[in-house]
Amino acid sequence: MKRLSVIVLVVTAFAQNVFAEEGAAPPPMMMPTYQMRAPLPEGDRLETTGSGEELFSNRCGSCHLPFGMGTNVLTVQRLALGEPPEMGLLTNREDLGAAYVKAVVRNGKVGMPRLNRVEVTDSELERIADFLGRGKP
Ligand code: HEC
Repeated sequence: MKRLSVIVLVVTAFAQNVFAEEGAAPPPMMMPTYQMRAPLPEGDRLETTGSGEELFSNRCGSCHLPFGMGTNVLTVQRLALGEPPEMGLLTNREDLGAAYVKAVVRNGKVGMPRLNRVEVTDSELERIADFLGRGKP
């Protein structure tokens, strides 16, 4: 918990710095990520017809949209690798492949809990993994 607080503080401080440097007005109040995410596509979740993008937003967005806790954790990791902060968003990554995304979702990874087939069906995960992996296996 202490580590997470420190990470959130660092990311917040960094974000404030970015806005300060641009001399822009303070950002509008952000909506919580679970309210920003796309609605769950209608239809059979076992054979979804939703797009990978909207499924990712709905199923993963509460943590992986801007300011989500997954984004915060990954932003710190990417900064440590010398990358710009926007690489903390999974949708900006070019190094992910579908197999890796599926493995992380089903097994979890450090701060990320594993998600079961009720939370994300195999059909939904296929499309999400294809979307994040940009077609890479
Ligand atoms: C409850 C919050 C939460 C949800 C929901 C969540 N994630 Fe994560 N995810 C995280 C966190 C936190 C990390 C960073 C883990 C770490 O390294 O400590 C992470 C990391 C990842 C990584 C690893 C990235 C890397 O650089 O290795 C992938 C891939 C990923 N998530 C995909 C997904 C997908 C796809 C979904 C939806 C099906 C999802 N996540 C849902 C919190 C979440």
